[in-house]
Amino acid sequence: MNFLDLVKQRQSVRRYSPRKVEKEKLERCLEAARLAPSASNSQPWTFIVVDDPELKERVARQTYDNLMSFNKFVSQAPVIVVFVIEKPKIITRIGSKIKSLDYPLIDIGISSEHFCLQATDEGLGTCMIGWFNEKPIKMLLNIPQNRKIGLLATLGYPIENYKQREKIRKSFDEVVRYNSY
Ligand SMILES: Cc1cc2nc3c(=O)[nH]c(=O)nc-3n(C[C@H](O)[C@H](O)[C@H](O)COP(=O)(O)O)c2cc1C
Repeated sequence: MNFLDLVKQRQSVRRYSPRKVEKEKLERCLEAARLAPSASNSQPWTFIVVDDPELKERVARQTYDNLMSFNKFVSQAPVIVVFVIEKPKIITRIGSKIKSLDYPLIDIGISSEHFCLQATDEGLGTCMIGWFNEKPIKMLLNIPQNRKIGLLATLGYPIENYKQREKIRKSFDEVVRYNSY
């Protein structure tokens, strides 16, 4: 597939079929994430695959509650991947401070998008999840206290006939400038 077509095809999938995700497909998505660029090549990430149904449900339950129920679909996805932010190299940490830029957070964003694009290419659906209760998920998955979760992503086959939506985006002219703000 042409790359821009792949980008257009990737969309947040919020309804999943119970069909199991093949391990080779899952691991190609993780490989794409692993190969992502990062500041000073720090690769400040660990990807935790949560596919044990009971554990997965307990993690999913930390992304919604009765009041904030928009992430209820997370329970439907056969796999949840947790993107843990690792400590970057010292050079990146110093650079982050000097330049006031959270390089590891940028890095985790890039790697998770690699993951999602590869999933799209595999015919799978994903949704990045930034609304979650970090502390209980860290406890459930034995993530050390001094680590941070950057993001979660759901992974699975979309339900049959899941609609490809039109992209709702600011216009090209609104976001692109040449040579001056
Ligand atoms: C950092 C981040 C956090 C997100 N968190 C959530 C979330 O908690 N729940 C959800 O349903 N979608 C979440 N999304 C998905 C966005 O809503 C979605 O990407 C956006 O509306 C554009 O739609 P599209 O992905 O279908 O192109 C998140 C996306 C990003 C990049």
